[in-house]
Amino acid sequence: MTWRADILTLLPGIFPGPLGFSLAGRALQEEVWSCRVHDLRPYGLGRHRALDDTPFGGGAGMVMRPDVLDHALSDITSGDETGRPVIYPTPRGRRATQKDVVRLAEGAGVVMLCGRFEGVDERVLEKYDVQQLCLGDFVLSGGEIPALALLDGCVRLLPGVMGSSLSGEEESFSDGLLEYPQYTRPAEWEGRSVPSVLLSGHHGDIARWRQKESEVVTRERRPDLWAAYCQQSLS
Ligand SMILES: C[S@@+](CC[C@H](N)C(=O)[O-])C[C@H]1O[C@@H](n2cnc3c(N)ncnc32)[C@H](O)[C@@H]1O
Repeated sequence: MTWRADILTLLPGIFPGPLGFSLAGRALQEEVWSCRVHDLRPYGLGRHRALDDTPFGGGAGMVMRPDVLDHALSDITSGDETGRPVIYPTPRGRRATQKDVVRLAEGAGVVMLCGRFEGVDERVLEKYDVQQLCLGDFVLSGGEIPALALLDGCVRLLPGVMGSSLSGEEESFSDGLLEYPQYTRPAEWEGRSVPSVLLSGHHGDIARWRQKESEVVTRERRPDLWAAYCQQSLS
């Protein structure tokens, strides 16, 4: 069955963008997944098809109106019995993880709501039980790039999209650790050698070396992941 992505955006031309290339692009052509893009502008109000208004309580910028987004979301989700979640990428969301993309890829698809301006009126997020995910602790100008990133993370996990299913299992985050360093030919390059264990052909030694390197890099670069990994190993 085709994994379905419906995207609500003020900038429909952005999609599928990079997802039209490489693995995701091929999967799109082969209908492993579908990408339906919905322009929010026609749902806007008045002569200027406005989607936004000033924030109650004052402050800078504009907020996307709940009535306008409700109209668009109900049009797109009505009659859909797949139970696909509505995702709103936002800096106010929980930090997205590999577990989230695995969970989403295992479902029937997603409805992505791309924010602009200062964001979306809270009430429409409540009404649709919207899942709010943050891409990182920095602010982008719109939800389109986070939506593309989350979709890419999901699509590559769909059955048949990646060449080897093992490449998904051994990646960073899959076991709570960052990945070990990677090397390829030539074995000697600009006076730098590949670690000899990788040329030994001894699978057990290679696996132990990779595990140790994963642990070292995770401890150094991501103390948060390392703490969670240690906690999980104890339990
Ligand atoms: C300029 S931002 C709004 C930021 C918002 N006023 C705040 O301080 O949380 C406009 C839109 O970009 C998207 N966005 C920006 N940064 C993001 C991030 N780190 N993760 C996910 N979405 C983000 C969201 O959809 C957001 O509604």
